[in-house]
Amino acid sequence: MTSERRERRVGLWLIGARGSIATCVAYGLAGLRTDLLDPIGLITACEPFHSLDLVGWDQLVIGGHDVCRRDLTHSAGELVKSGILRQDLVSANTAEASRFEARIRPGILDGPDVGFADMDPKSAELGSLAPREQVAAITRDFEEFRAQENLDRVIVINLSSTEVFQREKEAWQSLPEFENALDREENQPASILYAYAALRAGCPHVNFTPNVGASIPALAELAEEVGLPHCGNDGKTGETLVKTALAPMFRARALRVLSWQGYNMLGNRDGAVLSDPGHCESKLANKDQALRSILDDDEMHTHVGIDFVPSLEDWKTAWDYVHFEGFLGVKMSLQFTWSGSDSALAAPLILDLARLTELAAARGEKGAMLHTAAFFKSPLGGGTNDFFAQFARLIDYAEAAGR
Ligand SMILES: NC(=O)c1ccc[n+]([C@@H]2O[C@H](COP(=O)([O-])OP(=O)(O)OC[C@H]3O[C@@H](n4cnc5c(N)ncnc54)[C@H](O)[C@@H]3O)[C@@H](O)[C@H]2O)c1
Repeated sequence: MTSERRERRVGLWLIGARGSIATCVAYGLAGLRTDLLDPIGLITACEPFHSLDLVGWDQLVIGGHDVCRRDLTHSAGELVKSGILRQDLVSANTAEASRFEARIRPGILDGPDVGFADMDPKSAELGSLAPREQVAAITRDFEEFRAQENLDRVIVINLSSTEVFQREKEAWQSLPEFENALDREENQPASILYAYAALRAGCPHVNFTPNVGASIPALAELAEEVGLPHCGNDGKTGETLVKTALAPMFRARALRVLSWQGYNMLGNRDGAVLSDPGHCESKLANKDQALRSILDDDEMHTHVGIDFVPSLEDWKTAWDYVHFEGFLGVKMSLQFTWSGSDSALAAPLILDLARLTELAAARGEKGAMLHTAAFFKSPLGGGTNDFFAQFARLIDYAEAAGR
């Protein structure tokens, strides 16, 4: 058990720095530092994590990339209007927000833009460079952040918009093949270039999005080679969290799930991006697979629908209908409705993941952080999607780290 925190300064580089989750992370962190907020929803503020030598809120510095120029006060204003951020929290932290704003650099645009207002033309320029040049530009930003803020470590966290679904490429299968593809100037999704640049620059990587990121064999190999921890993909914050907590109950009681039909409505920018079928396919692939793997049943009918309903703003409603069969062949059903603020659910997970990733890096761990599976819809390194089994693994990890 540790009573004193190590001296350190840790940078969190957020890809998608002007987005809703990043904004909630920035104001949330400021609120935690000044005791304007209670650490609700943060598991690292509870035992057995609390006794570990985790990085403190005041030891974290944030910066990041974005492809649009929407300023943070605008993003914060949207969240105040939706009843998610408190006005007093925003007003008390304008100076802190300006410092974060000054550390945001133009990111690399992935393919055609997804129709956001105020795209940064520099991002379009960067996105049109050869992949090696894009990686060099991103790397310069990481290095400048590290030097200017005198950081001991930079953790790169991808919070950017969902990219268009990509089929696996031959060049993703090994690191030499991937680096050859970069030399041949073969285009790669931005999330992969960010992850590659991060790992090559010595930064642990967290992918909270459904984007490919570091999930390809080539980057798994790179993480091992450079000795860095990484985790992902796609944060488990709402409907999938409930599904992966309920599905083990059906399995444990030997009830046969016949159909699991889910329907999501959301109104934020993520919802607007997901209203495009190409972008939505990335999300649906992750949502469906978690349930199938827990119930281990290929016969079961499952379907997840996602619709964009602008008036809902940052609030998401999911309705799930579970049709199941019990003894005597009797068919029954369970329904649930989940209404949550996506960004308020996601932001504490980002802070927890930042602390756990820093801990793993300080302990010299490398490769996929299997103990963080409870945070993701498609955990890197595989394993069960059963939320309770995943959480038990995390607790075991924390207890072992505290000994
Ligand atoms: N909120 C949740 O509960 C939740 C759960 C799981 C996953 N996610 C994922 O997290 C991501 C962020 O969600 P959000 O609600 O903050 O979305 P958002 O649209 O508010 O923010 C995304 C930001 O990323 C920026 N961006 C887009 N492409 C970029 C690129 N190539 N480089 C740098 N920046 C880029 C956009 O300009 C935008 O500011 C999405 O991919 C979403 O699917 C969210």
